[in-house]
Amino acid sequence: MTPSAGAGDDPGPDPRTDRRHLTTISYGTGDLLADRQQLYRFAQPKKEPITEWLFALVGGPEALGEPIVDVGAGNGQYLSALPGRRRVALDLSRGMLRGLRPAGFAGPVLETDAQALPLAAASAGTAMANHMLYHVPDIVLAGLELRRVLRPDGVLLAVTNGRDHLAELGRVLDETVSELAGRPFHLDRSGERFTLEEGHDPLAVAFASVDCHHRRTELVVPDTWPAWWASPRPCPTASSSPTCWPRPSGGSPPSSPGMAPSGCTCTRAPLSADDTPAVDQVGRCTGTVRC
Ligand SMILES: C[S@@+](CC[C@H](N)C(=O)[O-])C[C@H]1O[C@@H](n2cnc3c(N)ncnc32)[C@H](O)[C@@H]1O
Repeated sequence: MTPSAGAGDDPGPDPRTDRRHLTTISYGTGDLLADRQQLYRFAQPKKEPITEWLFALVGGPEALGEPIVDVGAGNGQYLSALPGRRRVALDLSRGMLRGLRPAGFAGPVLETDAQALPLAAASAGTAMANHMLYHVPDIVLAGLELRRVLRPDGVLLAVTNGRDHLAELGRVLDETVSELAGRPFHLDRSGERFTLEEGHDPLAVAFASVDCHHRRTELVVPDTWPAWWASPRPCPTASSSPTCWPRPSGGSPPSSPGMAPSGCTCTRAPLSADDTPAVDQVGRCTGTVRC
């Protein structure tokens, strides 16, 4: 987040690409990413999981060449939708990679930067770089690296957001912070660095053909309180799973931020490679409890 710098202001490192910021704050652990992923429960109209949609574009999961290398794998949303395949997870953040084993991912895990992949040339059948190229300082270089590690017939899947993604939220933030700070503020959002509209050109430097496919949904968040549900909270009665995901089950909104609402259902975070982090697919750990 960088305010519009005034004369003489040093904006400091860009948090959208700064290694220290990304590996300690944005992606120090999987919690914040998991929170953001939960928000997509509110996408309308309801569609198939994004993993299913993505793999169908190239003939389904069985059509993906192996090994499948996921660069910026995060909490393994895409890899866990490919059980039984030869998969490699790579990420800049050790904290993110740490979460993969407990989630059941047994393949190789490599802490690395997309701009310098520790993989041999022409060694992968499929590469993925989903929702992550906008964090890479040199996107063209990352594209060249992804092309280098792919076999000549290999395919790169790179999911990103459109230019208007969360635009309304961005406007509200900009206006609110500008008002509070008494000077113009613009939140430089990571996604603006590699959008659906402009993502073709940096990838075309390395790839002979780049196809763009759109998946249009609208996020309709009815209130501010669903954000509370998006965060993992300790579940008081869960002995087997220390982190549980409360979600509404006829409960009422908390009276103030951070306060537990009454009457909710705790569901455990995905534990096996076959689970995906989508909240609708998590298993129930304790039934209905008072959180
Ligand atoms: C928004 S998450 C996406 C995770 C996953 N690909 C998904 O779509 O669910 C971005 C991930 O990219 C990783 N990342 C950021 N910069 C990177 C870089 N230069 N090289 C490799 N990984 C990076 C972050 O640590 C984080 O796990």
